Amino acid sequence: MKFRAIMGALCAAGLMCGVSAVQAAESIEVLHWWTSGGESKAVGVLKDDMTKEGYTWKDFAVAGGAGAAAMTALKTQVISGNAPSAAQIKGPLIQEWAAQGVLVPIDASAGDWKKNLPPEIDKIMHADGHYVAAPFSVHRVNWLYINKAALDKAGGKAPTTWPEFFALADKMKAAGIQPIAMGGQPWQDLTLWEDVVLSQGSDFYKKALVDLDQKTLTSDKMLNVFDTVRKIQGYFDAGRTGRDWNLATAMVINGKAGMQFMGDWAKGEFANAGKKSGVDYVCAAVPGTEKSYTFNVDSFVFFQQKGQKSATPGQLALAKTIMSPAFQEQFSLYKGSIPVRLGVSMDKFDDCAKKSYADEQVAIKSGGYVPSLAHGMAQPDAAAGAISDVVTKFMNSQEDSKTAVAALAKAAKTK
Ligand code: BGC
Repeated sequence: MKFRAIMGALCAAGLMCGVSAVQAAESIEVLHWWTSGGESKAVGVLKDDMTKEGYTWKDFAVAGGAGAAAMTALKTQVISGNAPSAAQIKGPLIQEWAAQGVLVPIDASAGDWKKNLPPEIDKIMHADGHYVAAPFSVHRVNWLYINKAALDKAGGKAPTTWPEFFALADKMKAAGIQPIAMGGQPWQDLTLWEDVVLSQGSDFYKKALVDLDQKTLTSDKMLNVFDTVRKIQGYFDAGRTGRDWNLATAMVINGKAGMQFMGDWAKGEFANAGKKSGVDYVCAAVPGTEKSYTFNVDSFVFFQQKGQKSATPGQLALAKTIMSPAFQEQFSLYKGSIPVRLGVSMDKFDDCAKKSYADEQVAIKSGGYVPSLAHGMAQPDAAAGAISDVVTKFMNSQEDSKTAVAALAKAAKTK
């Protein structure tokens, strides 16, 4: 055991928390947005691991799904010279922060990462040839969660096409069940919308949301996407304005609603409530997306501390712990995701996670593995934000699909 670890252990045991122990422990301030029941449990594993290693965890949690509020808080911190030790940042935003010259490389902790990460994800963790981010797990975004009792009551099976979906939603309605639980924030609107884009095929998704191809964005298929979203909205409940995603998940958990479109962090909520897949709820790919997989990989980046251009021992330890096999397993078991590190055993995972893993392998081989726009993986912040505005405006007004498509094509040109 290292000196720091010994002092930390003594302190945790209430034995010797004197000046020397306090001075020995590096304090690591960590900014994240994992505040729901399942999320807190998952990040708690990291906090415990780091505490055991002798570091002091300073939690900087900013509530708000998908992290919009957390990102605003982070900018304020960095501008005022109070950058946290680490922050939850993902996708192209990693490179955007690196370009500001405020991150530190963590190569020293990443010796075995290259051979243990899928190449497309390994690439995202880099800036200027150095590792600057540590990945946690892979979330699949294109899921539909269904309350099992509601499904049985409606006499249905998980829908694989939109006509089947609408038939099931009608049956739930007829059985007195609220068909869809939906939250009311722009990122949740965008999550549903990208699901529907994906249902038109992963090639269509890539051309539209990765390449931002104007012809695809203005196609009849895109009109159909907006029409389908409008139709789905007909099954929402009245109280969605401002509702957080986990409260919508709770409606499905408690049987107050039949279904929710959400990434598999929702599964963390089911697990936290003691619910079992196949018994209490069913996870299915969004209709029409069985062979595709919108990936969302959470990661931490590490900020320069007191002007130092290299990582502190605490930052390096944090990066190393995040990618350790034991942490990868336990974090995902609570979080609803699957480990991003290759070769971690899936034995302890439930059917939904095993399906996620199997579907991921199929999608990678078939070209159906695509980055989620709604979760910051597909586009730089500015373009993603402009598209999000278009979708949210459409979903919160009576705008027609044609007007929305024109606005979308314009938004996609945002640099
Ligand atoms: C993050 C997840 C998080 C979810 C809801 C997503 O963007 O990747 O880790 O659970 O937002 O906050």
